[in-house]
Amino acid sequence: MEPIRWGIVGGGEGSSIGYIHRSAATRDGYFRLTCGAFDINPERGKRFGMQLGLEESRCYASYVEMFRNESFRRDGIEAVTIATPNATHYEICRAALERNLHVICEKPLCLTSREAEELLKLAKERNRVVGVMFGYAGHQMIEQARRMVEAGELGEIRIIKAEFAHGGLSAAEDARNESLKWRLNPQVVGPSFVLADLGIHPLYLIRAIAPGLNIKRISCRRQSVVKSRAPLEDNAFVLMEYDNGAVASMWVSAVNAGSQHGLRIRIVGSKASIEWSAETPNILSFEPASGSPRVLRRGMPELYPSAMAEDRISGGHSEGLFEAWSNLYRRFAIAIRGKAFSLHEPSWYPDIEDGANAVTWIEKCLESSNQDGRWVKYESCV
Ligand code: NAI
Repeated sequence: MEPIRWGIVGGGEGSSIGYIHRSAATRDGYFRLTCGAFDINPERGKRFGMQLGLEESRCYASYVEMFRNESFRRDGIEAVTIATPNATHYEICRAALERNLHVICEKPLCLTSREAEELLKLAKERNRVVGVMFGYAGHQMIEQARRMVEAGELGEIRIIKAEFAHGGLSAAEDARNESLKWRLNPQVVGPSFVLADLGIHPLYLIRAIAPGLNIKRISCRRQSVVKSRAPLEDNAFVLMEYDNGAVASMWVSAVNAGSQHGLRIRIVGSKASIEWSAETPNILSFEPASGSPRVLRRGMPELYPSAMAEDRISGGHSEGLFEAWSNLYRRFAIAIRGKAFSLHEPSWYPDIEDGANAVTWIEKCLESSNQDGRWVKYESCV
């Protein structure tokens, strides 16, 4: 079967996320980059697209022009990735769905749950796939963790401790480039900085590993440690209670001085605990309540078959974020074209409902923190 004809909006020259999208989407041959509106600066975007080998006529000045022109072509795109700053996701995603395109959208899906509901409705009406790039979920050891929870190896889940706390913006003057500057502008990110930029990654990892858990209540406190950033928070603590009685705490921060990345998660069950860190993605710690702890490694035959199925190079070699994203792009491709498109089995992936739930979670965190951390009820908008 021919690859999915695919375009990108954003992700232009010098952007932080364009390269990994192009690399991950095209790595397994499921997607072919066909066109793009890569940049807010049309000239720079056109130059960049041509440098990537695209025809000049398919390097567009804007997503509006791209969606319109592509929809008139017999060989027009079938899917688009949206890799632009947050405030633009909603309008671009809506425009893509209105042209019957499948979408891979960067997180957060949009800025409000009302927007999320509209996108959900439209995606359903048009019967289109919308994947949301919670990229860490594509790591092999996350699949392994999910299967371990499913098989009851941890027992009943009791406690979750999650963090995404880096120190990349520890001082006010650290917002030194364009990629960082818009993250501190409420007109581009909405009312939240780190909850939306970072917190929804561990939020989705919890969902990916333990999909049976549903949040009941949230309490959040957030701070602008660098005062000039107010009202946006650069640090936050979130407590969550789940419907099975489990409790979770999450720390998100951009001012954890010295931390390079800092995404990690520990899940404590009645029989055992597991722990995973994005900085060492090829290992998963398994600590039974009694007996010796073990370190499970990527690519080893004792892993669950679905984790091994995504193995790209034999154990002992390292895999990383690019492979994790490629795994997700493969799952998006199977969702778009169907099972016959791939030798791989269809699998779960972060979808529009997960994207919408994350947007609601941000709103609930803000609602709680604006009332001094009062517990607020969480209800999914899905
Ligand atoms: P960036 O500022 O580095 O790049 C944004 C790119 O979009 C630039 O090339 C810019 O010219 C282009 N652009 C802006 N508005 C546009 C428009 N209307 N039409 C076409 N192009 C436009 O931003 P970055 O860091 O790459 O972030 C982009 C998105 O990716 C954000 O939503 C961010 O939250 C998300 N992101 C996700 C990550 C993940 O792990 N899934 C990691 C980093 C960012």
